[in-house]
Amino acid sequence: MKKTVLVTGGAGYIGSHTSVELLEAGFDVVIADNLSNAEMTAVEGVRKITGVDVPFEKIDCNDLPQFETLFSKYKFDAAIHFAAYKAVGESVSEPLKYYANNLGSFINLLSLMQKHGGGTVVFSSSATVYSQPDVLPATEQTPRKPANSPYGNTKQMAEDILRDSIAAYPGLRGIALRYFNPIGAHPSALIGELPKGVPSNLVPFITQTAAGIRECLNVFGDDYNTPDGSCLRDYIDIVDLAKAHVVAVNRMLEGKNKANYEIFNVGTGRPVSVLELIRTFEKVNHVKVNHRITERRPGDVEAVWADTTLANTELGWKAERSLEDTLRSAWAWEKHLRGIA
Ligand code: WQD
Repeated sequence: MKKTVLVTGGAGYIGSHTSVELLEAGFDVVIADNLSNAEMTAVEGVRKITGVDVPFEKIDCNDLPQFETLFSKYKFDAAIHFAAYKAVGESVSEPLKYYANNLGSFINLLSLMQKHGGGTVVFSSSATVYSQPDVLPATEQTPRKPANSPYGNTKQMAEDILRDSIAAYPGLRGIALRYFNPIGAHPSALIGELPKGVPSNLVPFITQTAAGIRECLNVFGDDYNTPDGSCLRDYIDIVDLAKAHVVAVNRMLEGKNKANYEIFNVGTGRPVSVLELIRTFEKVNHVKVNHRITERRPGDVEAVWADTTLANTELGWKAERSLEDTLRSAWAWEKHLRGIA
């Protein structure tokens, strides 16, 4: 019998790519999204790539009665929770919006799963929980540090809510995946990242600059204590990241999990500098990215990358796509969006 996975925030960047991988792995999927920061074109992209007319439910996970209607309509074997706000800067100016939305929706999901007999959940966490680790690479045991933003704090708090709920309620189990920096797009170029307004993340800014939408990319600092002075990050391909969710769901559904609550880093294990990323993008896509060095961006950490040993050995997942291919896919997606030949 086919298993059904609820994907909240399934019309978003990571949610849409994960829905594709779940469908291709043979799961039934229900996409729930309030479309507050996503477009139906992503759902249509998922349908086109997979050939599956995946059900879409316009649901606000913060609206408990509305959310509950889903649980009477479908029987879920697992849920993956992506639905959340994610703009770090906005979370500083509107913290209550972030706490209410990001925590409220997750608490609603866990309450509904609990009410409907427990369940299996994957939570979308972030390397932001490590802030600037004292020792690199970061393992899952690396102590979390006080969050740099309310956004980061919602990720830490949601991890704790999941841990405590699993400890208290029999039948509930979960995995928190700590993503490093997700980039790139599906090889079909039918889905990808859809930033609203001026992108704050590096790769969408690079692709928009290459496309001529932005005049110049600001490289935030070249005086860090790193080989070329720019910050180091662990850029993880979006399709590889999506596949980690399929592996996590299978692990729990097949009873292979070692504990009812587990945490895994999802990264490549390879640090890449901002300048190296720009250079690689230019090289593989034969396109120029106009850039200049500016001041450091407040709140940025100098360097963070993953120790992926646990994900590789225990989860049996490994990042496969090369940085070059990922950056090719990011450019193909931007060109598709802008109608560039
Ligand atoms: C990467 C590097 C910048 C833009 C953030 C969130 C994190 C996560 C992913 C999200 C840094 C530099 C960037 C630019 C630049 N979660 N940069 N010029 O800050 O590592 O992580 O996004 O949902 O929680 O904090 O990612 O892509 O913004 O920056 O030089 O115009 O690129 O300084 O070194 P970050 P990023």
